[in-house]
Amino acid sequence: MKVLLLNGSPHEDGCTATALREVASTLECQGVETEIVHVGRQALHGCIACGHCKDQPGRCVFDDIVNRVLEKMEHADGLVIGSPVYYASANGTLISLLDRMFYAGSCFAYKPACVVCSARRGGTTATYDQLNKYLSISGMIQVPTCYWNMVHGTNKEEVVRDGEGMRNMRVLGRNMAWLLRTLETAGARVPVPEAEPPVRTNFIR
Ligand SMILES: Cc1cc2nc3c(=O)[nH]c(=O)nc-3n(C[C@H](O)[C@H](O)[C@H](O)COP(=O)(O)O)c2cc1C
Repeated sequence: MKVLLLNGSPHEDGCTATALREVASTLECQGVETEIVHVGRQALHGCIACGHCKDQPGRCVFDDIVNRVLEKMEHADGLVIGSPVYYASANGTLISLLDRMFYAGSCFAYKPACVVCSARRGGTTATYDQLNKYLSISGMIQVPTCYWNMVHGTNKEEVVRDGEGMRNMRVLGRNMAWLLRTLETAGARVPVPEAEPPVRTNFIR
């Protein structure tokens, strides 16, 4: 079993990375393989709505890290998305990646997933809501947690001192491992629901 963790921050050893590493090391202790991919220093184009990914499913027209992450996600059993808070939202680079990745890919449904965010002080719940929407619209299963998945600080030393935030990361890791095992056990006997053909009733009347 493998979980992919995306760090939207430009800091590979910053606050978001510290939170993600706590989730990852807890997952590893539970026997789940992990990989953290840092996307925050990439020059990423946003989605240009060209429709290329409808002709070539699973591939974005811009052949960059989005396609690499999609390839990894196809083989991953779970996903954790981490973002620093920028102006009370997720950071722009990460959003460019997520728009293109979720629009092009179809490897998300019924996989456990969660989001984690880090801020100096405010905007975490707005960021949390923003990122969780990618998971819910894609049919991912949200990992249960004990409190909001967020840490506070401006550097990793401050984040480590956020004992409550770090505890929540460990709870998240343990709950994700439990959910993965539960799905693995049930999956053999309980198939996922049959898909109904899509209906698109656009708001034009
Ligand atoms: C452009 C920018 C905007 C930011 N906006 C906020 C904000 O709205 N609220 C906040 O608490 N921190 C804000 N911060 C601080 C970071 O979110 C915070 O220090 C975060 O923990 C850094 O995570 P990182 O080390 O993973 O990059 C901002 C930082 C930057 C660079």
